[in-house]
Amino acid sequence: SVASQMEQIRRDIRDFKETSGVDKVIVLWTANTERFCDVVPGLNDTADNLLRAIERGLEVSPSTLFAVASILEGCAYINGSPQNTFVPGAVELAAQRRVFICGDDFKSGQTKLKSVLVDFLVGAGLKTKSIVSYNHLGNNDGKNLSAPQQFRSKEISKSNVVDDTVQANPILYGPQDKPDHCVVIKYVPYVGDSKRALDEYTSEIMMGGTNTIVIHNTCEDSLLASPIILDLAILTELCQRVTFCTEADPEFQGFHSVLSIVAFLCKAPLVPEGTPVVNALFRQRSCIENILR
Ligand SMILES: NC(=O)c1ccc[n+]([C@@H]2O[C@H](COP(=O)([O-])OP(=O)(O)OC[C@H]3O[C@@H](n4cnc5c(N)ncnc54)[C@H](O)[C@@H]3O)[C@@H](O)[C@H]2O)c1
Repeated sequence: SVASQMEQIRRDIRDFKETSGVDKVIVLWTANTERFCDVVPGLNDTADNLLRAIERGLEVSPSTLFAVASILEGCAYINGSPQNTFVPGAVELAAQRRVFICGDDFKSGQTKLKSVLVDFLVGAGLKTKSIVSYNHLGNNDGKNLSAPQQFRSKEISKSNVVDDTVQANPILYGPQDKPDHCVVIKYVPYVGDSKRALDEYTSEIMMGGTNTIVIHNTCEDSLLASPIILDLAILTELCQRVTFCTEADPEFQGFHSVLSIVAFLCKAPLVPEGTPVVNALFRQRSCIENILR
């Protein structure tokens, strides 16, 4: 049953902690990309409903099951994949248990460059009008992403990365104005883990002229992700040891359970409800620097 699967994961976490002798466990999802799940009232919209859905054996994504198990074990949970593991019920459960959750999707290659380059172009006064990104790769992730529903998860997490940069410049962009942004991913077995990313950025310049930048990036996909995995775990653990107080609230407290400081390492940063999302890489880095200073 779904409930017994979750019990098994909880047991695995406890057993690992005991046999390895570590003080803390942080769980990071780097299994396959899943399709987005529907957020359904009564199923996964609140912590109680989500726990009840697991008890009753209703459909819960495997990654959400891992997240709930980790949260119930008091272990921070990081989502390195693009899907919406953190349904509202999981977010509420993490807040209730005061456990960190972070995600989504490692910001490793093409998106990382995009979150720098568009920030630069727009900041330099060039109005970027079209961003077209092709990827091809031949590892198992590439194979998985060739299924339309899983590709859709990746397309969503890759697509919003320029939104905050564009919205932050109302002189260049009107309220409904944003660049065309197209993302394509193809599975090409021969190239294996050597992922190719081809990007074209077209921006308007003076007197109706256009400026086009084309980039071809080749890199081992796994080697881009591995240091991010380490940094996510290290940063999350560090945050578990930080408490702060303010003049208005002298009581010491920890960070919000949705740990947005790790946005620097994520394509589609998870933030507390109502908080603006920052994708621009150097602003994200400043956030970490300001906290650690
Ligand atoms: N540069 C990168 O490598 C990069 C960047 C961003 C995001 N990601 C994401 O990281 C994830 C992993 O990428 P990868 O290249 O290592 O993929 P992969 O297909 O090589 O490995 C995924 C592993 O997860 C296992 N798995 C699948 N479902 C599982 C489940 N329910 N429980 C436990 N294990 C399960 C599979 O057996 C497989 O071994 C993907 O979602 C990918 O989109 C990777």
